[in-house]
Amino acid sequence: MQLVRTVEAWRRLRADPPLAGHAIGFVPTLGGLHRGHEALLRRSLEENEATVLSVFLNPTQFDRRDDLESYPASFDADRDLARRLGVDVLFCPAMEEIYPSGYRYRVAEAELSKRLCGAHRPGHFDGVLTVVLKLLNLVRPRRAYFGEKDYQQLELVRRMAEDFFLDVEIVACPTVRDAEGLALSSRNRRLSPEARRRAAEFPALLRSPHGPDEVRSRLEALGFVVEYVADRASRRFGAVRLGEVRLIDNVRLAKPMKGAA
Ligand code: PAJ
Repeated sequence: MQLVRTVEAWRRLRADPPLAGHAIGFVPTLGGLHRGHEALLRRSLEENEATVLSVFLNPTQFDRRDDLESYPASFDADRDLARRLGVDVLFCPAMEEIYPSGYRYRVAEAELSKRLCGAHRPGHFDGVLTVVLKLLNLVRPRRAYFGEKDYQQLELVRRMAEDFFLDVEIVACPTVRDAEGLALSSRNRRLSPEARRRAAEFPALLRSPHGPDEVRSRLEALGFVVEYVADRASRRFGAVRLGEVRLIDNVRLAKPMKGAA
């Protein structure tokens, strides 16, 4: 596996075989890799001739400094996992490499990015879209893999790729969960064992037949601070805080049975 830390080194590598002329699959991440990221990587390894993983803790998408500072980084473990899976290139640039002129130029989306998570994290999705566009332009993959766990992000990236005529297929991958149903997330590492048990109630209530208001009050009764629970386009989305840890999730809403009132 090649470890690449600079844009210049990446460009050199990208210009020659085996990367030039081959279908590249790309999995962008913030690091702190877990089985959710692993599923994206395995899919890319299956579907492409080469797989590039980026580990870049993108500061522009963090609206809170404490969240950025406490983000669980585990570079050695990430590198070992990537190597074990057979990733071809691990791209882990420094901030100055990706933002040579600071954050002067950015992608701003005016609608979907303002709703749900965007309403609670000002600027978050502009930071995400900006870094994803930069990375897609550098990597120039045939396919890029995104998780349904971050459904709003997936949707925004998909539409940006269409709107800016990017020559890439955005591939959606299902949410990977633990045995209790909690969506895997790097931030779960910051939950105490007791909070982790309680956290499993979050996806369970999202899936329950109750309406969003009832789900919200049941979550609050269990000690969650609820940012939102909302139904949009046959999915239910939620974001909560448990102590210092923010959790998001979404599930497909069951179709009402034929003949049901
Ligand atoms: P990160 O949170 O590291 O996630 C990287 C990718 O893994 C995203 O596409 C995310 O949806 C997916 N993922 C995370 N947990 C998952 C799970 N439990 N099941 C399935 N997929 C999962 O999302 C980001 O990083 C950043 O915003 C990024 C796109 C890298 C831009 O900085």
